[in-house]
Amino acid sequence: MTATARFATAVAHPNIAFIKYWGNRDDELRLPASSSLSMNLGSLYTRTTVQFDPSRQEDDLLLNGEPASPDQKHRVSEFLDLVRTMAAIQLKASVSSESNFPSGAGIASSSSAFAALALAACAAAGLQLEEPSLSRLARRGSGSAARSVPSGFVVWQAADLDDESFAVSIAPPEHWSLVDCIAIVNEGHKAVGSTEGHKLAATSPLQAARLAGAPQRLDFCQKAIMDRNFSSFADLVELDCHLMHAVMMTSRPPLQYWLPASLAIMDAVRTWRKAGLSVCYTLDAGPNVHVLCPASDAETLLARLQEIPGVIRVLRANPGGRARLLD
Ligand code: PMV
Repeated sequence: MTATARFATAVAHPNIAFIKYWGNRDDELRLPASSSLSMNLGSLYTRTTVQFDPSRQEDDLLLNGEPASPDQKHRVSEFLDLVRTMAAIQLKASVSSESNFPSGAGIASSSSAFAALALAACAAAGLQLEEPSLSRLARRGSGSAARSVPSGFVVWQAADLDDESFAVSIAPPEHWSLVDCIAIVNEGHKAVGSTEGHKLAATSPLQAARLAGAPQRLDFCQKAIMDRNFSSFADLVELDCHLMHAVMMTSRPPLQYWLPASLAIMDAVRTWRKAGLSVCYTLDAGPNVHVLCPASDAETLLARLQEIPGVIRVLRANPGGRARLLD
């Protein structure tokens, strides 16, 4: 490995799942129980620099300029071990990562974090992976990170084997000018992160029913996206979101991510849709509400969302591209 190959910076977008995954068939390898479908969020990003350094005794991690917690460092070190094994190196690294949106609040910050880390660490270690292999590697850091590697609208295939579970793009960002207006009602970290949450999914009596219908919902949602059919898309996205949260709420112990303001937004969206606006919502493992609409309705929607009591601010994102290296 040359001296110049030790340092690399990558950028990746978080993604929002329209058809969710919740629960793993293998927690260690982060092989999901079901396939999922998402869109990268173009205006939001994580930028990560990795430097392998012969003078370091241990890995170091800065998040938004602050030293990371021991747990966060441990998770990143374990991930870097995978890269070190692939590249046959033993060097420790310093990692610095910045995101332009709140982390740990249901905006899938770990998706962009591990996609950017996978790409930057591989480049810094002198590894050149094809997109499917990079997606598989990112998956080992956080499942949803597999979907932040390819561009635009993305499907991540569930499989029993490590080398068969990666994400692929089904349409580029310019295919459909959907807008995600993310209504922030809480900027804090969630009490139960998704890594622990996935382990509870199987304790819900509803998980089997959710999984049984997941392949069909994904097929129908993919078709709605390909046809740019918003009303069919809206039906499927809300149904899939409700099914995932029903599983969360009925697991033992139960997980409840919604706040009163989340419910107020969901109610408002349904009212606006009845009145003719093309709009629907989805929520990940957090209280913030992703409100989706065609670009032509985004300004109206942003203004209305900002008026709902409890909404702190609204972020706007268009479909985003793939994870990429910066010069
Ligand atoms: O891959 P994780 O551990 O970040 O879990 C993500 C889970 C959800 O965001 C709730 C659903 C999904 O498919 O992204």
